[in-house]
Amino acid sequence: MYNNNPTLEDRGKTIDESKQGAAFFPEESAVLGTEGSRHFYIESYGCQMNFSDSEIVASILDGVGYKPTKNMEAADLILINTCSIREKAEYNVRQRLRVYNKVKDQKPGTLIGVLGCMAERLKEKFLQQEKLVDLVVGPDAYRDLPKLVASAEEGEKGLNVLLSREETYADINPLRLNSNGVTGFISIMRGCDNMCSFCVVPFTRGRERSRNAFTILAEATDLFDRGYKEVTLLGQNVDSYHWKNPENDGEVNFAQLLEMVAKVHPDLRVRFSTSHPKDITDEVIETIASFENICKYIHLPVQSGNSRILKLMNRTYDREWYMERVKRIYEIMPDCAISSDMISGFCTETEEEHQDTISMIDFAKYSMSYMFTYSERPGTLAARKYEDDIPREVKKRRLQEIIDRQAEVSMEHNKKDIGKTFKVLIEGDSKKSDQDWRGRNSQNKMIIFPKSENQKPGDYVFVKVNKATSATLIGEMEK
Ligand code: SAH
Ligand code: SF4
Ligand code: F3S
Repeated sequence: MYNNNPTLEDRGKTIDESKQGAAFFPEESAVLGTEGSRHFYIESYGCQMNFSDSEIVASILDGVGYKPTKNMEAADLILINTCSIREKAEYNVRQRLRVYNKVKDQKPGTLIGVLGCMAERLKEKFLQQEKLVDLVVGPDAYRDLPKLVASAEEGEKGLNVLLSREETYADINPLRLNSNGVTGFISIMRGCDNMCSFCVVPFTRGRERSRNAFTILAEATDLFDRGYKEVTLLGQNVDSYHWKNPENDGEVNFAQLLEMVAKVHPDLRVRFSTSHPKDITDEVIETIASFENICKYIHLPVQSGNSRILKLMNRTYDREWYMERVKRIYEIMPDCAISSDMISGFCTETEEEHQDTISMIDFAKYSMSYMFTYSERPGTLAARKYEDDIPREVKKRRLQEIIDRQAEVSMEHNKKDIGKTFKVLIEGDSKKSDQDWRGRNSQNKMIIFPKSENQKPGDYVFVKVNKATSATLIGEMEK
């Protein structure tokens, strides 16, 4: 679920290149008819949760009269929703701040705010390091934005980085930004209670908490009523979703939540991300199998294929456990696609251990993966306990080997689809040509096919695949 800015040297593939640091567009032409009102511009980096949070921020600001604009120069308030996952992600944020500051030079009085994980990690240090930043607001403090913006307008710097054990923004109806009107994200939980030794997320997002299941259901129903055909349920570890109803002590786990959302309507597709190998249960896998509209696609990051490294990473499963989960998924759903995240060159990793990651790609037959070199993050368990001892060149070479093997396996995976017919949800024009549609099948594969009369984004069509690259399928609609 990650889409940090890509750099050739430190990562493999990105989730959706079009979303890199995307500036948000309002879903309706919310900018029209708003002369006289103030405007905000927001750019988002990092994972889908950050993109989803930006929609919550947009809704909160909209409530106090700030309207979204896609034109940075026209904005009274420029916001950047930041990511800290790797060093490079933070470097990119500082580069963007330089650009915003140039705009502020031309238009003094423009406010600049830093939101998200880097705000949370650096706290007041941000205000000291970046003199022209007016606001620093962490992921659990967005309700405070109107107050902080108002004081910043009076010339007072604003800071709120308090993390919460309860905040889920359950009652806020996100203002869908940059939306195609077909697919939408729903945040089902926040924070993370795992302590993977390489990862900064537990520090930037705080403790794990699950959102009220009924508000999730209401959001999915509302999206469907407005014409959306697909929702993606988001959390760092969706399998540990667990909501206790304070009114009757009833409990909802992830499998039950999936079922509730799947029952909104058979034409509403349900996706979810991210699954944790230690927590994905047979109940979840069987629920996915039993609903046609729950997509047959599981993002199940392995991180490393070697048990000793997994232990150092504190992932709490080993190679055998992971392989058993993959086997179970394919047993119950032979047509399910699985994807992964992998890190090369974690502390003390040997060549043999690196080979275990490569052989895992073959075993799990990933349809695709997000691949990274290890980047030490201050304050994490690994930074405190282990030396970052694999030379950069070695990390990069190992990453390239992982990328190369994944490309071969993706190609094989896609070639097997040639000749098959898939139900595809049309998302919009293909990026290369407005004569072609772009859509995805249940397995999350992008399929490009020529338009003919009478379809529109949001329609389901049947497409027969006749060509494949390692990234895309190409086909033709069945009459
Ligand atoms: N919650 C998800 C992942 C969140 S972070 C999970 O547990 O799978 C997204 C991905 O970034 C991770 O899966 C990992 O592969 C990568 N990542 C996280 N921290 C990293 C670091 N310090 N260096 C390199 N990659 C990292
Ligand atoms: Fe980070 Fe691990 Fe939590 Fe994922 S499960 S967000 S990798 S600590
Ligand atoms: Fe980045 Fe924070 Fe997501 S660190 S990956 S934006 S949770």
